[in-house]
Amino acid sequence: MNAQTPIEPFVRPAIADDAEGIAKVHVKSWQEAYVGLLPQATLDRQSVPNRMRWWSGQLQETRNDRWTFVAIDPVSGVVGFVGGTHPPRAMFGPTFKIPVLYVLQSHLRQGLGRKLVHALGNAMAQFSPGDVALWSLASNMPARAFYEAVGGRLFAVLTERDHGRAPLAGYRWRSGAELAEKSAPT
Ligand SMILES: CC(C)(COP(=O)(O)OP(=O)(O)OC[C@H]1O[C@@H](n2cnc3c(N)ncnc32)[C@H](O)[C@@H]1OP(=O)(O)O)[C@@H](O)C(=O)NCCC(=O)NCCS
Repeated sequence: MNAQTPIEPFVRPAIADDAEGIAKVHVKSWQEAYVGLLPQATLDRQSVPNRMRWWSGQLQETRNDRWTFVAIDPVSGVVGFVGGTHPPRAMFGPTFKIPVLYVLQSHLRQGLGRKLVHALGNAMAQFSPGDVALWSLASNMPARAFYEAVGGRLFAVLTERDHGRAPLAGYRWRSGAELAEKSAPT
């Protein structure tokens, strides 16, 4: 490592070569964060090769309506990531969705979640105006506290009776610009 190598973790757009690092964080993060929230068998089934195949496909496709940012630790590589999409126009539903956001336990509470969604909010705002939404497990209180800290407003709670799966909490922002503004590093 030379004198100019940054030693702090930083956030940048993902590239195709990040597929393996993202897949590892995806699996490890599920297995760290969802113990007691999802069935253990579901967590045990998570597979790095399967996730890597999926992420390789995603990152190799050139699309301007989908974004992935990674948090990189200069020593250990990918330690977090966020993904956002602009779903095809639907009668109802948000303009932008955030389907994935994960930071490894070893790197929590260092401002990386904030930096990841800040970068994503800016990218969405440059693409078009429109609201942003995501769903979290309703029982995932740390994630919900994070979404509230970066300005997310709770707009719905889906119970198991509503959709046959674990209860979910929905958060939204008026726009990518609002998400970027509310998550701007403090
Ligand atoms: C949600 C998540 C991405 C937040 O990432 P992070 O890098 O730890 O978040 P930040 O350090 O940027 O936190 C920003 C602010 O959010 C709030 N916050 C974050 N984690 C919190 C927690 N566990 N409890 C209470 N508030 C929390 C705080 O206000 C924090 O600011 P502070 O540290 O100055 O007090 C991270 O907890 C995570 O990856 N969890 C596991 C996977 C997961 O649940 N993903 C979400 C799926 S819906």
